[in-house]
Amino acid sequence: MADLRVQYMGLQLENPLVVSSSGLTRTAEQVKQCEAAGAGAVVLKSLFEEEIQAHIDDESGGTEHTEAVDYIRELETDAGIQAYTRVIREAKSSVKIPVIASINAVTRNWWEDHVAEIARAGADALELNISLMPYDYKNTEQEILDFYVRTVEAVRARVDLPLAVKIGQHFTSIPALVDRLRWAGAQAVVLFNRFYQLDIDIENLRLQSGSPLSIPADLALTLRWLTVTYGKTEAQLAANGGIHSGADAVKALLAGAEVAQVCSTLYQNQYSHLTTMRDEIASWMDRHGYSEISQFRGKLSQKKSSTPEAFERLQYIKALVGHE
Ligand SMILES: Cc1cc2nc3c(=O)[nH]c(=O)nc-3n(C[C@H](O)[C@H](O)[C@H](O)COP(=O)(O)O)c2cc1C
Repeated sequence: MADLRVQYMGLQLENPLVVSSSGLTRTAEQVKQCEAAGAGAVVLKSLFEEEIQAHIDDESGGTEHTEAVDYIRELETDAGIQAYTRVIREAKSSVKIPVIASINAVTRNWWEDHVAEIARAGADALELNISLMPYDYKNTEQEILDFYVRTVEAVRARVDLPLAVKIGQHFTSIPALVDRLRWAGAQAVVLFNRFYQLDIDIENLRLQSGSPLSIPADLALTLRWLTVTYGKTEAQLAANGGIHSGADAVKALLAGAEVAQVCSTLYQNQYSHLTTMRDEIASWMDRHGYSEISQFRGKLSQKKSSTPEAFERLQYIKALVGHE
């Protein structure tokens, strides 16, 4: 029988399937369900700085009195963090699998001020969900990249926990950013987050939300960047985005991922789909004569390829000249 165990950020996982941060991992009870269905680890729903900020705005009701606003800010921030640390403690006492906390902050001070409290609650690792919307034409690419790197450095200076950074897909060079994040103190980088999908309602002339869930075709982008990043940096890679089946998870491992994070497929098929996915990975390994994941991880990455130029191809040349 295939051995599915993997080491992720120094943590021992029974298998490479990690339930990614979402409404599926908001409570300790849900984390228990993930474990029962066969998850190797879970990433808790993120604590969002902006959500706490929205509470502060509601509570302060437009008051201009700065001292009052400061007081409300302190209370709301404390309440938000205490509720989150309670979930971490409850989850940790309910399951044996690693529990990874997740924070999304938009201002660097916030990370610096609160990350230690969250670390003290006992999570096995921390995933930093860093996302900046570069809407301002005055923000240069360098400034944006530096924000990511300085944030990781600041968190690393405050906590000893294993750190992963979850990023979006839109960077000029993913391998270069992953390596910078590694040197800033992150053991792993999660490729990729799925952001709010924007759509337009043409009848009512207003913005609307697109589908929050991914489809299997979204895996193509994840695989592209895994294959060219694996082996070129000491950062471990977690695949995320479009993994809907055991076969998809195998593809991510062949591309170089340490673990496969899943979300949309569990919204569609329930937690029990983790059992099916885990069995599919094991049966694929048996069929191909692999007893451990390390025997095939990254086998189809650019680093291990005899035709590395094949990975650098961006365009369908034949399509451009009208043949295919
Ligand atoms: C409803 C929903 C809520 C999510 N909430 C979070 C979150 O709190 N923090 C986070 O880092 N990612 C969040 N995500 C993103 C997922 O963790 C994951 O990165 C993304 O959905 C891609 O994986 P998938 O293709 O398996 O769905 C959320 C996704 C969905 C669909």
